[in-house]
Formats: sequence, C-alpha cells, structure tokens
Amino acid sequence: MRWLPLLLFVLLPASAMAAAVGNPKIGQQLVEKSCIQCHASMFGGDGSGVYTRPNRMVHNLKQLAARVALCNANTSTGWFPEEERDVTAFLNQQYYHFKQ
Ligand code: HEC
Repeated sequence: MRWLPLLLFVLLPASAMAAAVGNPKIGQQLVEKSCIQCHASMFGGDGSGVYTRPNRMVHNLKQLAARVALCNANTSTGWFPEEERDVTAFLNQQYYHFKQ
C-alpha cells in the first residue's frame, strides 16, 4: 500500500479543483428543476431576465455563489454544496460571465 499516499496526492487536488469550479451541465438541470418556474412567473419568458436585467443584484462570482446559497436555503431544494457550485458554474457560464 505504499502507493496510496502518492495516489491521494495526485487525485485529491484534481477533485478539489473540479469541485471548486462546478459542473455547469448538472447545474443547468438543477436550475430547470427547482428555480426557473418562479423566475419565469415573475420576470416572464424563461425567467432568465432576472439574471440579465440592468439593475441585477449580483456583481461578482462571490455574490453569485452567495445568492445561489440563499435561494437554495429559501426554496428548500436540499442541494449539497457541490450542487450549489454546479448551479453557480452554470449561471456564470450562461448569463453572468464573471472571471473565475
Ligand atoms: C419563489 C420564487 C423564486 C424561486 C423559487 C427562486 N427564485 Fe431566485 N429570485 C427570485 C426573485 C423575486 C429574485 C429577484 C430579487 C430582487 O430583485 O430583490 C431572484 C433573484 C435571483 C438571483 C439574482 C439575480 C440578479 O439580480 O443578479 C439569482 C442568482 C437567483 N435568484 C437564483 C435562484 C436559484 C439558483 C434558485 C433555485 C434554487 C432560485 N433563484 C429560486 C425568486 C425566486
């Protein structure tokens, strides 16, 4: 088992990095399932107007992550932190385009 520490050394940073960035594909499914209905009923269309309106509230990646966490708590979706990161990654890739 002498290779185990080496394996962890190689694998852990890679998975930690993937988690920090998030998976936009998974995020999109999560948003479609839990978030769009309400945004669409309030902002019309597919609801994406909430992210692109001129007076939007989110101005950087940190605020976006915080807002996703807040909405997650408000809507009791029960997402794990990884899923919040996936959603943040999707919204950023699709609408906000903040630099990492
Ligand atoms: C019950 C209705 C409702 C649900 C469900 C909802 N939202 Fe929202 N969301 C809103 C409203 C209303 C605003 C605008 C708040 C404002 O302008 O003060 C908003 C704003 C936002 C914003 C900020 C947009 C900006 O101004 O830049 C983000 C990001 C967001 N929601 C993400 C989510 C996510 C992710 C989910 C799914 C977990 C979700 N929302 C579910 C009603 C909802």
